[in-house]
Amino acid sequence: MRATVELHENNTEGLPPVKARVTLGKEDLSIKISDCGGGVPMRKIDRLFNYMYSTAPKPMLNPSQNAAPLAGFGYGLPISRLYARYFQGDLCLYSIEGLGTHAVIYLKALSSESFERLPVFNKSAWRHYQLGPEADDWSNPSSDPRDASTFKT
Ligand SMILES: Nc1ncnc2c1ncn2[C@@H]1O[C@H](COP(=O)(O)OP(=O)(O)OP(=O)(O)O)[C@@H](O)[C@H]1O
Ligand SMILES: [Mg+2]
Repeated sequence: MRATVELHENNTEGLPPVKARVTLGKEDLSIKISDCGGGVPMRKIDRLFNYMYSTAPKPMLNPSQNAAPLAGFGYGLPISRLYARYFQGDLCLYSIEGLGTHAVIYLKALSSESFERLPVFNKSAWRHYQLGPEADDWSNPSSDPRDASTFKT
């Protein structure tokens, strides 16, 4: 909603709607929320799921104010995905820079399937975290664009 307002602030025709669609399938209950807020470039999608990453101004916590701040802590997406995964689901963002974003929350249709999923921390999990990242598909694992002007052969 913030992206929509910020992109279309001066739009004389008003703001494009944010649409939500809830679909119950045999296995999945899926919620798709679509906006036309200009989206996010592909390169930045991963960092949106980092805790405390936010492009909103830092909210002021003022107890005398009645309204709680709506954004700016940078917890919204990572915590929502954690909850979805905890219940055997997931949260995925499909964004098109210049256009908008679809956010899809996948949940289990049957409550009997959505038992809690807890991370296991045993010896083999510990080893997994000790090992460095595995070899990448590409010779340059960085997803940031390389500055070609400084690249020498
Ligand atoms: N639909 C969207 N369109 C464009 N940018 C988005 C969208 N959703 C999230 N973002 C970007 O991702 C960042 C992180 O989102 P997130 O919800 O985690 O935190 P936040 O909205 O800043 O604060 P809060 O934790 O209060 O929700 C946002 O600051 C924004 O830059
Ligand atoms: Mg948010």
